[in-house]
Amino acid sequence: MMLQAKVAIVTGGAQGIGAAIVRRFVEEGARVAIADILVEKGEQLEQELTEQGHDVVFIRTDVSQTESVKAFVQSVIDRYGQIDILCNNAAVNIPGSVEELEEELWDKTINVNIKSQFLMSKYVLPHMRKQAKGAVINMASANSFVAEPRLAAYVASKGAIMQLTKAMALDCAPNIRVNCICPGWVDTTFNDAHAALYGGREKVLEGLANVQIIGRPIQPVEIANVAVFLASDLSSCMTGVPVLADGGITAGIA
Ligand SMILES: NC(=O)c1ccc[n+]([C@@H]2O[C@H](COP(=O)([O-])OP(=O)(O)OC[C@H]3O[C@@H](n4cnc5c(N)ncnc54)[C@H](O)[C@@H]3O)[C@@H](O)[C@H]2O)c1
Repeated sequence: MMLQAKVAIVTGGAQGIGAAIVRRFVEEGARVAIADILVEKGEQLEQELTEQGHDVVFIRTDVSQTESVKAFVQSVIDRYGQIDILCNNAAVNIPGSVEELEEELWDKTINVNIKSQFLMSKYVLPHMRKQAKGAVINMASANSFVAEPRLAAYVASKGAIMQLTKAMALDCAPNIRVNCICPGWVDTTFNDAHAALYGGREKVLEGLANVQIIGRPIQPVEIANVAVFLASDLSSCMTGVPVLADGGITAGIA
């Protein structure tokens, strides 16, 4: 039990990597609050894990909206009285080059992917400071290091998250650690719209083995295991670090 008695927030925790993180966190003894806009999936996960004896709450929250984030953080404090772990995981993946992207889709990407991490951290960090301890995990991407065609807003947002992580680590030292995870291609529906530009998911998966050198997509639980490590004292000397969990996709030109 690496996270016994801890209280964790997971944004975008209703499905995909976020849901895998919620599952791994409760297995390690944490109580978890999920912030997501997907009400049905969030409530299903809350019910399933509650029936298994875990302490999980889903609260519908749009992480790009100040009032929604403030209300969420207050609800978590009202329920648990503390916040030990913040996993800023929610994001959108809207494909397009700079010329293809409509301005509002650029804004949406920046607001959901980066501004959300600013907002959630802004309202959670004061509670961590009171405890003089905390772990923040921002979800970045292999795209924080390398770009992909026709993914300009997303790539820009993930590059910014890596630098935000380092800036926050400096400002939160020494007691609150801030790191980010940089996954490669993970097997969720997140990449479907971008893959559609390149012949669809199955075609992209065929070519993936050539570049992601573990030869397969990453499973969400594999990223969740990294999140457990960064949330726990196992990573006690790590802060300001982008942790590549990318199946080797950035290792070189395969
Ligand atoms: N899947 C991949 O290959 C991959 C690779 C690198 C990084 N990532 C990152 O991992 C994270 C999770 O991705 P995923 O693959 O699980 O995708 P996903 O689409 O399955 O999950 C994203 C979650 O964020 C939620 N969300 C979106 N907008 C929101 C908003 N305004 N407010 C609250 N919640 C919102 C969605 O409802 C969803 O539950 C993202 O930060 C993504 O950038 C994914």
